This record gives sequence, C-alpha cells and structure tokens, in this order.
Amino acid sequence: MTTQKQIRIIDDEENLRHMLGVMLTRQGYRTDTAADGLEGLRLVAEQVYDFILCDIRMPEMDGKAFLARALEGHVASPVIMMSAYGTVDTAVECLKMGAYDFISKPFKKDEIVMVLKKAEERERLREENSRLREAVAGRNAFCGIISRNSAMEEIFGQIRKVCDLKTTVLILGESGTGKELVARAIHDNGSRSNRPFVAVNCGAIPENLLESELFGHVRGAFTDAAGDKTGLFEQADGGTLFLDEIGEMPLALQVKLLRVLQEEEIRPVGAAASRKINVRVLSATSRDLDADVRSGRFREDLFFRLNVFFIQLPPLRERIDDIPLLAEHFMAKYSRAMQRPPARITPDAMRFLMAYAWPGNIRELENVIERGLILCEGDVISGQCLPGGLRGAAGVQTPLPDEDLSIKKAEDAMERELIRKALARTGGNRTQAAKILEISHRSLLYKLKEFGID
Ligand SMILES: Nc1ncnc2c1ncn2[C@@H]1O[C@H](COP(=O)(O)OP(=O)(O)OP(=O)(O)O)[C@@H](O)[C@H]1O
Ligand SMILES: [Mg+2]
Repeated sequence: MTTQKQIRIIDDEENLRHMLGVMLTRQGYRTDTAADGLEGLRLVAEQVYDFILCDIRMPEMDGKAFLARALEGHVASPVIMMSAYGTVDTAVECLKMGAYDFISKPFKKDEIVMVLKKAEERERLREENSRLREAVAGRNAFCGIISRNSAMEEIFGQIRKVCDLKTTVLILGESGTGKELVARAIHDNGSRSNRPFVAVNCGAIPENLLESELFGHVRGAFTDAAGDKTGLFEQADGGTLFLDEIGEMPLALQVKLLRVLQEEEIRPVGAAASRKINVRVLSATSRDLDADVRSGRFREDLFFRLNVFFIQLPPLRERIDDIPLLAEHFMAKYSRAMQRPPARITPDAMRFLMAYAWPGNIRELENVIERGLILCEGDVISGQCLPGGLRGAAGVQTPLPDEDLSIKKAEDAMERELIRKALARTGGNRTQAAKILEISHRSLLYKLKEFGID
C-alpha cells in the first residue's frame, strides 16, 4: 500500500499555487496551499507534511523567515525552497540553515517532480538506515540491555537460567551499571511477568517508615495510622519485589526481612496475625556487602539468604567495546525525543568517550550524550560538545623530551603514568589495576617498588 504524500505549498502568487496544485495532484500527491509565510507557519504547525514547498520572496513573512521559524519550532517536514531570479543567494543561505533542497523558478513540470522524487528517495533511505541501526542494536540487546560484551552475554545467560525460579537474586555493581535494568529483565522474562514488578529504594525511605512501607500496617498501629495500609510485599503478590540499595537497610529491619524470606509470610505493623505471601525477591546494591558484613553493618545470615544467586555487573570501563554501541543507542533515543535527525559522533569524540573512566558508568554516558546533543551544531557531536573533564582524560600524554632521547627513560615515564592512571581508576585496587594494565599482580608490585609509588 502506498499512502498519498502530502505537500504544503506556500507562495504569494495565486497562479503558481494553482498550477502547482493541479500538477502535483495529477502526480498522485495531496496538496494544501498558503499565501504567505505567516499563514504557512500556522498551518504546518497543525499537521505534518511529507514536504513543504516554500517561495522565497513573499510579503508578510518571507521564505527565509518562515524557514527559520519552522526550524526553531521543530517542524519535522523537510522544506524545499523555490527561488526566483535574484534570490539564488538567499536560497543557498536557506540550504545552510537547514532547508532540504531548492529549485529555481520558473521550473518545468519534470523538474519539480524530479526534485520531489529525489527527496522522497532520500527520506526513504534515511528511515531505512535508522531501522537498520535499530535492528543491529536489537541483535546486541537483551530486554533493553544493550551490550555485545562477552561478560555481559554471560549475564544474559544467567538471567535466562534464573528468571523462572523463585530464587532470590542479588545484583551487584557500581552506580549506573544497569542493576535495575537487570532486575526488570529477570522479571519480564520469567513466569511472573504478567504480575506486578514493585521496586523500592531502601535508602530513600526514612528508617521509621520503611517497615510499614514494606509490610503495611493496620489502623491505629501508630499515631498517624488512620487506616489499614497494604505494604509493598502484598502489592507485589504473585510478582516480584525489587529491594534496591539493600545495603542501606537498617539492622533491625534486616532481621524481619530475613524472617519474611524464610517463612514466606508478612506481618503488618500492629497486626496480630501473619499473612501468607508469594513474592519473588530481587535485591541490588552498589556497596561492598562483604565488607559491610565484616564490619557488622549488614547481617551475615541475611546476606547468605539474598546471595543464593548473584549477578555481578562489570563497570563500563571494563567493557569499552560497549561504548560505541551504547553511545549510538542513546544518540538515537535522544534524537528521537528531541525530534531531530539522528546525529553522528565524530571519531575524535568517540576516542574521548572510549578513553574516559566513567565513574558514573552508563548513566553518566547517557547524560553526556544527551548534553552533547543539546550543545552540538547541526547533527554532529564533536569533541567540543563533550565536558572538559572528559576530554582531558585522553589528552594527557607524557610529552616526548627534546634533550634526553633515552628510550629506557621515556618508557619508564610512560609506565609510571599508566600505572598511576590505572590506580586512580580502580581507587587504588592493585589486583584490578594489574588487570587493566594487562600485567601480572606480581610485576605490578615490582614496578610500584621500582618507581617508588605507593
Ligand atoms: N546496557 C544498557 N543498555 C541500555 N541502557 C542502559 C544499560 N545499562 C544501563 N542503562 C541505562 O542507564 C541508566 C542507569 O541504569 P540503572 O538505573 O539500571 O543503574 P543502577 O545500577 O541501578 O544505578 P544506581 O546504582 O545508581 O541505582 C538507566 O537509564 C538505564 O536505562
Ligand atoms: Mg538503581
């Protein structure tokens, strides 16, 4: 089925409007007309046209002013300028501003049809491209989790294995690595997917309210308890409860949670009896729970109960291969949201993105791309559109000396710099630093001693 393409013709000459209308209708287009830029602007804001044909010289609002306002107002339709003798320079300016094409008046029937056909073909290709792009992204994604990194693919496998079970799963990873996304993927792929997924951030609810938030309360349980309240466990009945930032749960409540998980029943605050529940519990934290257990901040028995199955998400700096894919994905997402054609990331900008350590992980990358799209000119994100701190990361290089040409000394200086960076990136963790540097832990220790770094 081919749908009729719609064209808005804006021209002050009535004859020309009429002639174009008749001609294009015969070619199978649907046309509407407007007599000047102002009227045109009002009409194109109300309806999306496949193309807008706009004269340059008009009273009221001329073609260039119309174009400027249309682009400003995010009118999505491509605008083709019609320039009469003497307005070619303006037409070129319009092209630079963002007009799609231009055609010189007077034109023959074939010419205008050709320009339109060419424009249609270009639009079709552009749509196909973005569809292709999405298909490629689809192959590298699992339930909205974009990745082609092998460690992540292993995690996709773990999700598939565990999703249908009732086993509690503990999701670990630095901030912004996608823990919540994984929790949703487990729910959405499992047999409980048609039941509720309820998420609660244990760190965001005041300690004294968390218990009644989770388990509910009965009327009169405390001063403000004017009526019964259903807790989140009951709201998630049959489905999944996601306890985010579990490491923030107060100790007193940890005991109660453990009992709920073992007995599979809850007791609302102030209630005399317990109620059976059927809830699958997932939890997540960016804290080092092992350390919290050792320091007594987190109960060991609860830790073991939650940790029956755990998924450890790698930080973004350990899956650099995902950076271009994710950057493309967020670019497409935000271009679409801003109703702009998909932008392109220049190779130099991509180098910066790949060299940066991403302490805020994927969330930070997402924010950088969104910001870059706002700042960038046209549809290209260059290094200039990236935050300064990010550009610095790749830029610092040990300058080559002019005087002393000893290779040994230059190598030492470079090694020292790389080790310093690796340690900074891992927060001083030597095992991880050695991994990034691709040397053994022992040779790292040796080099640290040699260079006197501590
Ligand atoms: N692999 C991915 N593909 C696409 N988007 C992702 C991916 N990982 C994370 N995101 C996006 O990054 C953002 C952060 O993810 P999410 O909230 O799941 O992280 P988190 O680990 O729960 O972070 P925090 O510890 O700060 O709560 C979200 O907008 C999410 O959609
Ligand atoms: Mg989260």
